[in-house]
Amino acid sequence: MTNRPVILFAAKPQRWGQYEAPLRAALADAGLGDATLVTEAAPETVDYIVYAPNSDVQDFTPYTRLKAVLNLWAGVEDVVHNTTLRVPLARMVDDGLTEGMVEWVTGHVLRHHLGMDAHIHGQDGVWRAGIVPPLARDRRVGVLGLGALGAACAKALHGLNFDVTGWSRSPKSIDGITTTHGEDGLADTLARSEILVLLLPDTPGTQNILNARTLALMPKRAMIVNPGRGPLIDDNALLAALDSGQIGHATLDVFRTEPLPPEHPFWAHPNVTVTPHIASETRPGSASRVIVENIRRGEAGLPFLHLVDRDLGY
Ligand SMILES: NC(=O)c1ccc[n+]([C@@H]2O[C@H](COP(=O)([O-])OP(=O)(O)OC[C@H]3O[C@@H](n4cnc5c(N)ncnc54)[C@H](OP(=O)(O)O)[C@@H]3O)[C@@H](O)[C@H]2O)c1
Repeated sequence: MTNRPVILFAAKPQRWGQYEAPLRAALADAGLGDATLVTEAAPETVDYIVYAPNSDVQDFTPYTRLKAVLNLWAGVEDVVHNTTLRVPLARMVDDGLTEGMVEWVTGHVLRHHLGMDAHIHGQDGVWRAGIVPPLARDRRVGVLGLGALGAACAKALHGLNFDVTGWSRSPKSIDGITTTHGEDGLADTLARSEILVLLLPDTPGTQNILNARTLALMPKRAMIVNPGRGPLIDDNALLAALDSGQIGHATLDVFRTEPLPPEHPFWAHPNVTVTPHIASETRPGSASRVIVENIRRGEAGLPFLHLVDRDLGY
């Protein structure tokens, strides 16, 4: 086992300021304090790349001794199809990221469940009493995607007493949650979801999963909350469903083009809430420990954690 792996941090410069100290601390804690952690290195000397897909490194060919690429993001759609990458790719699974997503999702689900807007926007002297929302136990919420984030959100919503159904590619069993998979499972989940949370990755199998046909399967005036990825939704089909009243509201954090262009109709639509891809962020302290654990494993000859399946795309 070598104690001196060379680790290249390849991300936007401001990230280095956030990550350098926690990464060095995590390396020291893992007994890897002798590792070389740099933002520039001769490619043929690099063992690991701590990687943001929007960094300058797009061609991995010169990194001839690379052992793994450790993504700083949970989403890998911008790197997974890079044909120059021939070593294991790990995605980010970070407790801090998960906690943040649970908070954002439960907050936005509760907003729609409780009908908070009627009072937040209704400060006009009209006493709107008597509109009582159902209890959470009588509100049916669907979660598409039961991975690190979707499963945590489904459990938290169940903890608040919501009637939760979750959908994934492979069968799953989660206490208190009705789980489905496959095409029939999707139809069943959509048909019962008064509020639908999208936490799927962006892959060829998930793009446009909400389209004119599938939106029509949902209960009238259903609410959509999308912190997953923009391409999961056919924008024009969603706008048509909002205009017809089939969908009551869409809270969207992610878009096909980011930043969302000022002229995009989502901005002006009265039943759309746009948030600027802030649902959850990787937290440098906890994320650094995840990355270093994978470096420790690589150096010890152990299997890496959180590996991406390049064929499935996530
Ligand atoms: N807005 C933000 O701030 C933000 C922050 C972080 C992440 N995200 C997004 O959240 C996504 C999910 O993250 P994660 O860490 O939870 O991912 P993950 O652990 O890889 O989970 C993905 C889930 O989606 C399911 N899935 C994938 N393809 C499917 C298909 N074709 N049909 C049905 N289910 C499918 C998987 O099913 P199996 O369980 O059967 O594999 C799994 O349950 C990321 O990919 C990213 O796009 C957004």
